[in-house]
Amino acid sequence: MMRGTMLYAGSFDPITNGHLDIINRASGLCDKLIIGVIVNKSKVARYSFEDRKAMIALATVHIANAEIDSFDGLLADYVAARRVGAVLRGLRASMDFEYEMQMAHMNARLYKGEAETVFLMASPEFSFISSSMVNEVFGLGGDVAGLVPDGVLEYMKRRVGIHG
Ligand code: COA
Repeated sequence: MMRGTMLYAGSFDPITNGHLDIINRASGLCDKLIIGVIVNKSKVARYSFEDRKAMIALATVHIANAEIDSFDGLLADYVAARRVGAVLRGLRASMDFEYEMQMAHMNARLYKGEAETVFLMASPEFSFISSSMVNEVFGLGGDVAGLVPDGVLEYMKRRVGIHG
């Protein structure tokens, strides 16, 4: 158990069962878990910021110590502003490692000793899931049940209904 606030940041476009696995496990390791949704990223988001937040809220309603927030700009600035002690990342497979290592080292410089990056290994059943693959399969009419939380799947279907 780590005291204080942990941050799980990402684009969550949309939140998947892989993300939720990390969130469920991490929520027991800290006092407060902030789920930080990045507002503007270079990667164009499939879902609007409001939709991404709403889907996270649906999926994490059972987690008492989770807070959904958003940030823009440098992660390290947000970490300092919210007094985050640990920034959580999920590692799925070796393909994640190089990128995560680069980011962790860069962020370590920016955190100036005030925060740490911590990693949880994704559970094997979720280690192949990514948001963009979910979007591609769903967009082409494929079945993504079990890859995203049920409430999120319903939300995605309603969105298709609205936007055609
Ligand atoms: N289960 C399922 N999917 C997972 C996962 C898990 N446990 N962990 C990662 N992923 C997937 C995501 O679904 C996403 O897939 P996609 O690319 O197909 O959509 C991908 O891995 C990475 O997404 P995400 O976790 O959202 O990270 P990111 O790389 O998009 O963004 C930030 C990470 C927001 C922390 C980073 O971009 C950031 O800090 N930005 C702010 C600017 C900044 O400070 N830059 C300097 C950083 S050194």
